[in-house]
Amino acid sequence: MKIIMLGAPGAGKGTQAKQIASKYDIPHISTGDIFRANIKNGTELGMKAKTYMDKGLLVPDELVVDLVVDRVAAKDCEKGYVLDGFPRTIPQAEALDAALAKNGENVEFAINVEVPDENIVKRMSGRRACVACGATYHIEHIPPKTEGICDTCGKELILRDDDKPETVLNRLNIYHEQTQPLIDYYNTKGILKEVDGTKDMADVFNEIVAILG
Ligand code: AP5
Ligand code: MG
Repeated sequence: MKIIMLGAPGAGKGTQAKQIASKYDIPHISTGDIFRANIKNGTELGMKAKTYMDKGLLVPDELVVDLVVDRVAAKDCEKGYVLDGFPRTIPQAEALDAALAKNGENVEFAINVEVPDENIVKRMSGRRACVACGATYHIEHIPPKTEGICDTCGKELILRDDDKPETVLNRLNIYHEQTQPLIDYYNTKGILKEVDGTKDMADVFNEIVAILG
């Protein structure tokens, strides 16, 4: 089961992808999480990525494509995977398709989590993330049991640097320019599925499960 999550920043791609990965027992691959882990560990990739991420810009395709193509070729991806935050540009989508086609494979579902821009900024300022394990919370909708502490691993929760309102607006603009065209790209391939991301998280997940079967 090879799944791509599409949607604006803050639409709930990560929230849903984690649940999909758990239900279908496939890896959740988030390029944003991979970059944040690299930033935290001070790697060269992390330092390069940070200069773009802090401004709300996309990291250049050449820094992300090989990383994902290698990751999906790993043994634990044999049964499939859920990609969250990749592809984000048409060249990334084409590179993924080309890499999969070499093995006679293809993406099976592109799930677009639809949330209007008005809802996004509000959601983002309430988000808290665990850099240690990638768990995500929302101070109103899904608060952690203890304020500021991750329920799963007990580490500290942070407000992401790129969740400041002015950076969120930048990310939204970039999304509309560079990532939204992927909706047509996957629609043309006949694998696009739309879900209403403004519903409760559990309802969104049920919609997705109905699609995936
Ligand atoms: P990335 O980490 O992928 O960020 P993003 O796409 O901007 O998406 P988010 O993670 O912000 O949102 P989400 O859709 O996962 O929402 P979430 O589930 O957390 O990328 C960060 C940066 O890395 C990019 O800007 C770019 O610079 C770089 N990058 C990454 N991949 C790249 C690539 N392929 N190419 C180039 N650059 C790349 O939910 C958001 C909040 O809402 C949470 O608090 C959550 O609890 C809450 N929430 C979720 N669902 C609901 C609901 N149904 N109702 C109410 N609240 C909800
Ligand atoms: Mg995310």
